[in-house]
Amino acid sequence: MKNFFKVPLLLIAPMVLGLLSGCERPPIETVQTGFRGTGMEQIYNPRTLLKQAALNQAPAAAEAAATDGPKASEVYKNVQVLGDLSVSQFNRHMAAITQWVSPDAGCAYCHNVQDFADDGKYTKVVARRMIQMTQRVNQDWKPHVAETGVTCYTCHRGNNIPTNVWFAPKDRKYAGGALGDLAGQNIASTQAGLSSLPFDPFTPYLKDAAPIRVNGNEAMAGVGKSANRASIKQTEHTYSLMVHMSESLGVNCTYCHNTRNFQSWEESRPQRVTSWYGIRMARDLNNDYMTPLTKTFPPERLGPKGDVAKVNCTTCHQGAYKPLYGAPMAKNFPELQALAKP
Ligand code: HEC
Ligand code: HEC
Ligand code: HEC
Ligand code: HEC
Repeated sequence: MKNFFKVPLLLIAPMVLGLLSGCERPPIETVQTGFRGTGMEQIYNPRTLLKQAALNQAPAAAEAAATDGPKASEVYKNVQVLGDLSVSQFNRHMAAITQWVSPDAGCAYCHNVQDFADDGKYTKVVARRMIQMTQRVNQDWKPHVAETGVTCYTCHRGNNIPTNVWFAPKDRKYAGGALGDLAGQNIASTQAGLSSLPFDPFTPYLKDAAPIRVNGNEAMAGVGKSANRASIKQTEHTYSLMVHMSESLGVNCTYCHNTRNFQSWEESRPQRVTSWYGIRMARDLNNDYMTPLTKTFPPERLGPKGDVAKVNCTTCHQGAYKPLYGAPMAKNFPELQALAKP
């Protein structure tokens, strides 16, 4: 009888170890976000948090510049967006965007330094539109960014190209192609948290406005009615987007949902409403700002299908529940708050 237990134990012990090796090493921190017993809690790994904290420090802003004196539009030749700033405010702005976007290459990243008015470098043309895009976020998307707002640094963090952007992926076939198309899934992609879920949750939801809601909202309904409104395929796409959203904020599903009832807004946290706006904001930036810049970018900056780099939740959040943990950087740059007069 004794041996009967020993054998399976010997077999099971390595299996259990194998299973656990997929888990995270303790300690793990748990933060309750809802009523007791509802499973509304967040599980954090302090080591991951430590890494993120380093990534999410906002740089100090230079002191505000004098508002008097001549306007930039009166002194410079080709100022189309920031003309209402005083010359010293304008120069403070140029210094800030250099620090945020091209600290290594400096002014020359955007400028022909023989003639600052020249628009010959595509980077300058893109940057002008980026100023307007940032103003749009801060002015029209307050339901998402609140008074915290964004600056170029929120996305760029000192890089010419933000570290997290997305392109439409090239079509993938099974090896050899004999088994046909992968239908956009079954590759362990980082976009979908290394799951086999669809690897492009962005084109349908952060560019196009495909329906995200897939849950049936009634029990196995009566004659002629189906409780399921959406296909499994559609549902997998929704899940892939949700995995992206969770990963980009560094949170679990319960940060927004009460998982006993994913679709119920009454039982969700307010953060889910913020996210609803975030999805619409990302669409707006991608369609109104990024896509129209496609021809401005040189071909080597475009994706495998010739589309421009686009924004998703990670572009700003980079693993934090609020970008830069909510450091209100934008308030030091009023010119990025309001849409400048044409
Ligand atoms: C990330 C791109 C970028 C960087 C880096 C940059 N600028 Fe600019 N600069 C612009 C844009 C865009 C404009 C036009 C703004 C507008 O139309 O309102 C501009 C305009 C100017 C002008 C006005 C020129 C004219 O006569 O029309 C001056 C002067 C200037 N920048 C100086 C600088 C200096 C000095 C630096 C470095 C400290 C710098 N810029 C760094 C993007 C940049
Ligand atoms: C919401 C995120 C976001 C914000 C905010 C943002 N950018 Fe960008 N920026 C992008 C994306 C996405 C690209 C495309 C990446 C690429 O160049 O392939 C880009 C590209 C650029 C480029 C071209 C870089 C290159 O080498 O191709 C410049 C210059 C630039 N941004 C300047 C700015 C400036 C200046 C600001 C602030 C006024 C700003 N950006 C704010 C997302 C952002
Ligand atoms: C940061 C907030 C947030 C996180 C985290 C999040 N969701 Fe969502 N979820 C939303 C929002 C917002 C919607 C509704 C989107 C819309 O209608 O535009 C939604 C919708 C859904 C739906 C569709 C509900 C319906 O009405 O049919 C499902 C299912 C879902 N989420 C599952 C998940 C799962 C599983 C996770 C974890 C992997 C997750 N969500 C993580 C915000 C979140
Ligand atoms: C342009 C940059 C940007 C993008 C893109 C972006 N966010 Fe945000 N998000 C912010 C800022 C800034 C805040 C902080 C607002 C505040 O302080 O209340 C924020 C706050 C949030 C919050 C509130 C967190 C809390 O605990 O209160 C959630 C949830 C969120 N974002 C989800 C998303 C999701 C999901 C996406 C992608 C669909 C997304 N965000 C895309 C900038 C962005």
